[in-house]
Amino acid sequence: MAQVVIENVYKSFSARQSEAAVASVTPESLLTPVDEPPAIAVDKPTPSATNILRRINLTVQDGEFMVLVGPSGCGKSTLLRLIAGLEEVTGGNIWVGSRLINDLPPKERDIAMVFQNYALYPHMTVYDNIAFGLRRSKVAQAPVVNPDERQLPAWGENMLVAMTRKFPKKLRYMSDREKSVEGQVRNVAQLLQIESLLNRLPKQLSGGQRQRVALGRAIARNPQVFLMDEPLSNLDAKLRAETRAQIVKLQRQLGTTTIYVTHDQIEAMTMGDRIAVMNGGQIQQIASPLELYNHPANQFVAAFIGSPPMNFLQVQVKAPLLITHSQFRLTLSEDWEVVLQKYDGRSLILGIRPEHLSIGVPAPKNLSVEVDLVEALGNDTYLSVHLIDDPASILQVRIPPDRSVRIGEQLWLSLATDKIHLFDRETGLAQSHQDLRNTSTYRGS
Ligand SMILES: Nc1ncnc2c1ncn2[C@@H]1O[C@H](COP(=O)(O)OP(=O)(O)O)[C@@H](O)[C@H]1O
Ligand SMILES: [Mg+2]
Repeated sequence: MAQVVIENVYKSFSARQSEAAVASVTPESLLTPVDEPPAIAVDKPTPSATNILRRINLTVQDGEFMVLVGPSGCGKSTLLRLIAGLEEVTGGNIWVGSRLINDLPPKERDIAMVFQNYALYPHMTVYDNIAFGLRRSKVAQAPVVNPDERQLPAWGENMLVAMTRKFPKKLRYMSDREKSVEGQVRNVAQLLQIESLLNRLPKQLSGGQRQRVALGRAIARNPQVFLMDEPLSNLDAKLRAETRAQIVKLQRQLGTTTIYVTHDQIEAMTMGDRIAVMNGGQIQQIASPLELYNHPANQFVAAFIGSPPMNFLQVQVKAPLLITHSQFRLTLSEDWEVVLQKYDGRSLILGIRPEHLSIGVPAPKNLSVEVDLVEALGNDTYLSVHLIDDPASILQVRIPPDRSVRIGEQLWLSLATDKIHLFDRETGLAQSHQDLRNTSTYRGS
């Protein structure tokens, strides 16, 4: 186990490099530390793409579950591939424990990667798929049980193992190495509850089972670091939720430092010890799930984390504590005094989450809206509404399910004033009120 430190990492692809990268994507070049089989989907590169990643600084603690989340194309996979050694960094350093791994080939990095399409070798059983990487790694070198016993060279043993694999168990050649492999395969299979599937071929498995086998291959190698690139996106919603929980539980059990990539903020929020939110090749914020939800560092994070997303309205500031909008006027708490002084006479973006709006009474501090859409989910009801005086301003509202609302109904909405966020119009940076002045959250550049 080890800490992973990513220090000032840059990545750019020149147009020529991109072409070369595509040309050189052969199954061999994609052999990862888990000996990933062929047919890996590689994102189609944009020929003019430059600076795909900029000034990435990220420390993943020993044993931590770190999630990288961000919209498609923001550079998540590229960052994982840099860590795995499938791409070279353009600048900066990557450390695993005390080892600088920038220039090490993938196989020497002691990192295992699980991909989205969990490509398994179709002609090999589950057992052999899991054992594959082990047979080729040094990890499985078994201690010599009987020093007098003549040892075959590894290639000879592998050949005998392969030749006798289809024989009845008693006749199968089992070297010490193969016995050790078997022990490890069985341990992993037990952990993932796939013991009964060991003799099946991948085509005889469901998507969820295949995903577990792919995880099993990574786990069996007992690496210092797991990298997972959207490993659940091929599963249906129910299975995804189940497998999500299983991966988290497994990671806790194993305590292996893990970097997990997803574009799904719910996955990020439920799985990560901490989350690094990325956009446009840069880290926007690194924080715990609740810290991100409660104190987003900028408007991008505010909009990305939370579902339905945060609502934004432009407001005018009147120091000391008043904010106004054509539809409402709010007096904020004194915590905001410093911020509002700074922006006196100017405008700010007010952010309010759907769950922090509620149905209220006619009042100058409330918003007058008309309902466009009602989604009753059973446990919650989501409303989509527009401001009566400004139909282009659409808001999402989350209300308890017992309140019935009709389309076309006019409502007054009240804002939970202690839950509002304020952002600079130009930079998008969150303005922190008094309580948060000393927050330890990393604010990306
Ligand atoms: N080999 C490459 N050559 C040129 N551009 C690339 C290459 N690989 C990825 N890219 C580009 O880098 C950007 C980030 O891609 P990627 O890391 O796959 O994003 P994500 O995983 O967040 O969806 C995309 O614009 C993609 O087209
Ligand atoms: Mg990706």
